[in-house]
Amino acid sequence: MSVSLFQDRISILDYFHKHGLLVSPSALNIILEKSMGQLIPKMIMPDMADSGYIDEKTVRRLLRGETKTGRNDFEVYLPDIKVNSSVEDFRQMFVNRYQKLSRIIATSGTMRGSTDIRTAKKSYGEIKVIGMVSSVDTTKNGHKRMVIEDLEDNLQVIMMKDKGPAGELILQDEVIGVVGSMGKGPGDPVMFVNEIVRPDIPYRVIDETKKEPEYVASLSDIHVGSKTFRESDFMRMVSWIKRSEGEAQHLKYLILSGDVIDGIGVYPGQEQDLDIINPVEQYEKLGEYLREIPEDIQIFVMPGNHDVVRLAEPQPNFTGKVKEIFPENAIMLPNPHTLRLNGKSVLIYHGMSLNDMVELVPGANFSTIGKAIDEILKRRHLAPKYGGKTPLIPSPNDYHVIEEVPDIFITGHIHSHYLGNYKGVRYVNSSTWQSQTDYQKMMNFAPNPSILTMFDLNSKSTILKNFEQ
Ligand SMILES: [Fe+2]
Repeated sequence: MSVSLFQDRISILDYFHKHGLLVSPSALNIILEKSMGQLIPKMIMPDMADSGYIDEKTVRRLLRGETKTGRNDFEVYLPDIKVNSSVEDFRQMFVNRYQKLSRIIATSGTMRGSTDIRTAKKSYGEIKVIGMVSSVDTTKNGHKRMVIEDLEDNLQVIMMKDKGPAGELILQDEVIGVVGSMGKGPGDPVMFVNEIVRPDIPYRVIDETKKEPEYVASLSDIHVGSKTFRESDFMRMVSWIKRSEGEAQHLKYLILSGDVIDGIGVYPGQEQDLDIINPVEQYEKLGEYLREIPEDIQIFVMPGNHDVVRLAEPQPNFTGKVKEIFPENAIMLPNPHTLRLNGKSVLIYHGMSLNDMVELVPGANFSTIGKAIDEILKRRHLAPKYGGKTPLIPSPNDYHVIEEVPDIFITGHIHSHYLGNYKGVRYVNSSTWQSQTDYQKMMNFAPNPSILTMFDLNSKSTILKNFEQ
C-alpha cells in the first residue's frame, strides 16, 4: 500500500474500514498531525484487529514503537535472577563460564585441533588446550607460573620470562586458550607456553546506512538526593531533550546505567551528604524530571550500587513501588543487560568491576579507564576476576559473560567520562551528574560531570553534549 494514499482523513478512514476497524476522532487527529502515514499498515496487527477499534492510546503506543505484547523495534530479555545461591550454584557458574568462553575460544583458527587437559597430559610436542586460570604467580627466577583447569583436570603452565607472551596480563579466573609444548621430566606434566589465545572481539566495521540518525543517549550516576547532585545541569539536559531541537529531535532511546539515586546507608555518615534522606523520595524526584522527557523517547533504567536493590550482581531490575514511580515510557533493566535497539546490540553494565580492573590492569586509572574496558572486552567477561570489590551472586548462569559481540558498550560507576573503540565496538564510560565528592577529593580524582553521550545507531557518529555550567 502506497504511503501517499494516507495523507487525508477520508483515505485513512476508508483503509481502516476495509480492514474492519473503527478509528476514534482523537486517534485520527494524531495520525494526521504526526504524519503517521507510513505506520498505518502496522496498525493492522493481530492484537489491534481483534479489538476492532483504534483509539488514541493505541496510536500513541505505536508512535513509541510498541505492540500490545512488546515493542517491535527492540527486544528486552529479562534474565531469571535467583536470590538464594548454593555451593552448587557457585560451581555451576564457573562451569557455565568455562563452557561459554571455551566455545568462543575454540572458534579461533589458532585453536584448531585443541584437546582436553587430560589428553594433553599424556601427549608430547605442540599442544593446544583451553582452561580457566585457577592460580597465577611468578617464580623466583621471574617466570610466570599458572594452573589452568577444564571440566576434568588441571595443568601447570609456565610462561618463560623474555619469551613469547611473557608480558601478557593473566587474570585469575579468566578463560584462555594456550598453545605450547609439554615438558618432559619427573613429576607432574608441565606445559611451556608459546601463545595465549583470548576469546576477544573479532574486528568489525561499523555498518552505516543512509538513514536519518537515530540516537541512543547514555547517562549514568545521576545520584538524585545527594547535595552534590548537579540538578541545574540535569534540568538543562532535560529541557534540551524536551525542546527537540538539533540532534535531540533524533533521540530515540535514553539509557540510565545505574546509581540513579544516591540512596541511603551506602557508606558511613552518608546522611550528612544528602538533600533528600528517603530513597523513595529520591526516586520520586527523578520520576518528576523524567516525566518531562517526551513520551516517544524510550527510557531504560538500570540499578547500580547506590540503588535500592541487592548490591550483588547480577542486580535485579526495579519492581513494585519503585518501578511505579517511573513514567510509562521507562523500562526497568537488570544489571548487566544486553538490549537490541534497531538491530544493534547494546551491552549495558553499571561497572562495579572497573574498581577491580583499575588495580589489575597496568597503566589503567580512573582517567584512563579505557585500558580496563579494552581488557574486559578482550576477555569477553564483565568481571574477569571473581571476588575483589565486585560482589557477585553465584548462579547457574554466568550473566557477566559477553556472549554476543556488542555494537555499543555502555558503563558508568566511576564518574569519569571516556569514549573508546575496541576493534569496532564503540564504548563509553558514561558521565556522572554529581560534583566531586569528599571521597574523590581524598583520592585526588576529578570527575567529568554532565556530559550526555549520543551514539547514532545508523552510523559511526558519536556526539557529546556537555551541560556543565
Ligand atoms: Fe556506582
